[in-house]
Amino acid sequence: MSDPDPNHPRHVAIIMDGNGRWAKRRHLPRALGHQRGVEAVRELVRSLKDTGIECLTLYAFSSENWKRDEEEVDDLMNLMRKFIKSDLPEFIANDVKLKIIGDWQGLAPDIVEMLEDALAQTAKGGRTLAVALNYGSLNEIARAAARAAAAGEVTTDSIAAHLDTADLPPLDLLIRTSGEVRLSNFLLWQCAYAEMLFVDTLWPDFSPAHLRDALDQFANRERRYGGR
Ligand code: FPP
Repeated sequence: MSDPDPNHPRHVAIIMDGNGRWAKRRHLPRALGHQRGVEAVRELVRSLKDTGIECLTLYAFSSENWKRDEEEVDDLMNLMRKFIKSDLPEFIANDVKLKIIGDWQGLAPDIVEMLEDALAQTAKGGRTLAVALNYGSLNEIARAAARAAAAGEVTTDSIAAHLDTADLPPLDLLIRTSGEVRLSNFLLWQCAYAEMLFVDTLWPDFSPAHLRDALDQFANRERRYGGR
């Protein structure tokens, strides 16, 4: 296999922010913003095969999102159920391998069961869609460090080997939509040398064309990894 093209990211992660504001601007319920957010996810996943990206990681539900109103949490969980059910055949047809990061075994039993089934059915896929569910980066690092210690060696390599993302390519590009400039407990370790792009677009408006634009911007960055 040839060396990866440094101008082309293998692994892109997105903090999908702005569903609520998208809905508010249109005087629509927040739930509709999330619904349109799922449609943006669907279009992006469909476009993956044209991008050369090996892995797309999406922040769908953080461990802090439980603090939202019960109704909104229920809406998000129901959207997840619907999304997996409706899009699983498309994942399989399009060679997409699903991966879940975070403490997802703590979700409702029916969702855990659906996800386990979806993971098994997509295991042979070529491109990875990693979805962060009940995910918090500090917790992920603590879990990885504990496992590294139990295995007898705490080094940066041994911790990295126990992260939820251990089997994914190194993170190249982190995108956050909606104009907020923070990481919100997402992939803190993995961001050590990732490029970052903060765009004003609200998540439901983020299209495959926006992703292509982000990839163009990435191609113009000079990555030095601390060297000169
Ligand atoms: C942030 O918008 C978005 C979320 C908390 C959830 C992201 C979820 C989706 C896009 C849908 C579910 C995903 C999948 C993969 C099925 P916000 O509500 O914080 O927006 P705001 O900051 O404008 O209020």
